[in-house]
Amino acid sequence: MKTLGAFLLALHGAAAFPAVMEAMSNNGKRQSNTCSVSAKCNQKYSVTDAQIGYNPKAPTPAQVASAGRNHCGNLTPCTLFDAAEQYVSTSGAHAFQSPKSTDLRGPCPGLNAAANHGYLARNGVQSLTQTITGLGQAYGMSVDLAGFLAAYAIAFDGDLVSMTWSIGGPQAKLGAVDSGQGISWSHNKYEGDTSISRCDAYINNGDAHSLSTTRFAYAYSEGAKDDRLDMDKFARAFAKNTYRSIGQNPYYFAPLFSTTLVSPAAYNFVIAMMSNHTADQPGGYLNEDMFKTFFSVTGHYPNYKWNPGQDRIPNNTYTGIDISNFSNGIYNAQNLFQGDNLACFMYQNIQQGLPDIITANPLVTAGATLLQKQFGIAFAGVTCPAVSKFNNNNLPPYPGRSYSPNPPANAPQNC
Ligand code: HEM
Repeated sequence: MKTLGAFLLALHGAAAFPAVMEAMSNNGKRQSNTCSVSAKCNQKYSVTDAQIGYNPKAPTPAQVASAGRNHCGNLTPCTLFDAAEQYVSTSGAHAFQSPKSTDLRGPCPGLNAAANHGYLARNGVQSLTQTITGLGQAYGMSVDLAGFLAAYAIAFDGDLVSMTWSIGGPQAKLGAVDSGQGISWSHNKYEGDTSISRCDAYINNGDAHSLSTTRFAYAYSEGAKDDRLDMDKFARAFAKNTYRSIGQNPYYFAPLFSTTLVSPAAYNFVIAMMSNHTADQPGGYLNEDMFKTFFSVTGHYPNYKWNPGQDRIPNNTYTGIDISNFSNGIYNAQNLFQGDNLACFMYQNIQQGLPDIITANPLVTAGATLLQKQFGIAFAGVTCPAVSKFNNNNLPPYPGRSYSPNPPANAPQNC
C-alpha cells in the first residue's frame, strides 16, 4: 500500500477542521437511520477488464509489475516466517465478543474486528495510544502510520477535549465542544466514495458504512477463479469501482485525502493486513473465508449476507509484518519518501496550512498540535526543499464536494 507518504499527499483535500467543515454547504443532504443498503447501491453495474484497460493476455509492463507483488506489497521482502512473533491471539483477553448495542462500529472492518477482539477499546472510542498499541498488536501496523491515521481522526472527526475518536458514529459529547461525527459520518473528510464494500454515501441515503453484498461480491469476483485475492486483483477491483461510482453517483467526488488516498489504501490494507502467513507461504495468502470473516459476511459467492458489527479476526492468523519492530517496519516514512518530491511538496503545505486552520477556529488548536506532533514523528529525518503555498480554492464547485451527510439522532451504534 502507499502508506503514510501517500496519505500525507492528501491532507489539503479536506478543506478544513471540523467546525469549518460543518459550516460548508450541506446541499443535497439525505440521511438514513438504519444500517441498510439502498436498491441503487445494490444495483448490478458490470465493468469489464477491457474498460479499465486490462488485457490478461497482453498486460502492460506496469500490470506485470503489479502482478509480481506479494501480500506485503514488496515494501519489505516478507520472506521470513516466525510463528511466535507473528501470531495474533484470538483467545483470552482477545477473544471475539459481539459489540453491545451501545458500542460504536463503522465502515472499517480492520478497526471493527480489532475492537471486537479487544485490541482496540470495545466501546469503539479510541485514544491515540490505544490505537497505536492495538493496531500494532493486531495487524503489525507501524507506529507512524497508526499514529498519523488516529491523529487525523481525532482532529477531523473526533473529540479534541479528550483526544479520542470514534470508529463508528458520534461518541457521547464530553465537554462544551462537539465530540465529532466519528468516521462513519466523515464523508469527504475521512470516508470517501469508491469503497470496497460500502456504498457511496449519496446513493445510500448518506450511509457510507453499511455493507453492500453486491459490492462485496464484485470485490471477491476478482479472485473467485482460484479463491485467492491479492494486490493486483484488488487494483483492478478499485479501478472498476471507480467506474461504477462515476456511472452511478451524480455526487461522486474524489477529494485528495478520503477518496484519492484512504479508499485505495483500504484495498491494499485488505491484502497487506488481512492475509495470513505461514512457513510455507511467508508472502501471504487471502481466501474467501478469511475475507468474509473480517467483513462479517456469510454465504458463498455470489450469494452473501452481511451481519452488522460482527467483524472478526480469523483464528490461527499470523501477521505479515515484524511486530516487534514497528517504526522500522513496512510503513516506514523513510522508504516512502525516497525520491518523492511530490510528497515533500504536500507535507510542507500541510505544515503551512495548519496556522490558517487554527486562526479559522481556535477550538482546533489542540488537534492541530497533535497532528504536528505526529508529523514530526513520521517525518523525522526527512529533508524537503522549500515550496510555495498550495491554493485549495482552485477546486471547481463540483456538487459532490459539499455533500456532507450528518447522522440522524437515532442512528444505530454498530453497523
Ligand atoms: C487508525 C487506523 C485506521 C483508520 C482511521 C481507518 C479508517 C477507515 C475509514 C475512514 C474507512 C472508510 C473508507 C472508505 O470510505 O472506503 C476505512 C475503510 C477500510 N479500512 Fe480502515 N482505518 C484504519 C485502520 C485499518 C486497518 C488496520 C485495516 C486492516 C486491517 C483497515 C482496513 C480497511 C478496509 C478493508 C476498509 C474498506 C472497507 C470497505 O470498503 O468495505 N483499516 N478505514
